[in-house]
Amino acid sequence: MIIRKGGAEIDRIARAGELVAGTIAHVGERIEPGVTTLELDRIADEFIRAHGGIPTSQGYKGYPRAICISVDDVVVHGIPDETVVEEGSLVTIDVGVTLGGAIADSAYTFGIGQVDAESQRLLDVCQDALAAGIAEARLGNRVGDISHAVQIVVERAGFSVVKSLVGHGVGRHYHEDPHVPNFGEPGRGPRLSEGMTIAIEPMITMRGPEVWLAEDGWTIATSDGSRAAHFEHTVAILPEGPRILTPRVGVAVERGSLTGNRASV
Ligand code: MF3
Ligand code: CO
Repeated sequence: MIIRKGGAEIDRIARAGELVAGTIAHVGERIEPGVTTLELDRIADEFIRAHGGIPTSQGYKGYPRAICISVDDVVVHGIPDETVVEEGSLVTIDVGVTLGGAIADSAYTFGIGQVDAESQRLLDVCQDALAAGIAEARLGNRVGDISHAVQIVVERAGFSVVKSLVGHGVGRHYHEDPHVPNFGEPGRGPRLSEGMTIAIEPMITMRGPEVWLAEDGWTIATSDGSRAAHFEHTVAILPEGPRILTPRVGVAVERGSLTGNRASV
């Protein structure tokens, strides 16, 4: 069942989203070679709680930490631990915050220091794919329009979309209907209607699309060991167009989009 929200509830999700974005930026300032992912998790946890929020991931289906941190070939749901962040690596910070009863969800993949050219291209393409998906998040379109837009950006660039992981409705619960796959056909799937709030989140890899689940029951990594990227925004479907409820603050996101405009996702 898709839960459509009214203006006041969307504003509450946006306030949660502001804290999500602030958390990603705050953690981003502390990511550097030598820091452990567990330290970054503590920093995120403290920041979220100091601002009156609750880290939504903590305790969700038994998940043990405040946020997910996924390094290099880990696509999603990396559990912060004694892993040390290294120069040149890719580190995804995926944050859910509950604030005033509302939930927002966003992710950002940081390149640490100097990353190789192909890794940088992976990040750029994933951001372009998210921007393309968001651009389709309009009244009258269907979920498949978002999915297809994401897929073509990724596959034209020679990268792969992970098909077993999808975006989702979000706001009252962490994961609501509908599923928002990162591949599909235009004009298919649920119609996008006013007040829907969805997390659009391309999860892409440098080579093959297959992933495996580690023994910890959470960590999902590429089967071929290639690197992954993941960018996510919570977006509201409104008559005037998509409203990003988790707009970036303080992270270097300005870059060229496929259309020559400046994408800021
Ligand atoms: N933020 C993740 C998502 O986009 C959810 C993580 S669930 C957790 O779906 F329990 F692993 F945190
Ligand atoms: Co999500």
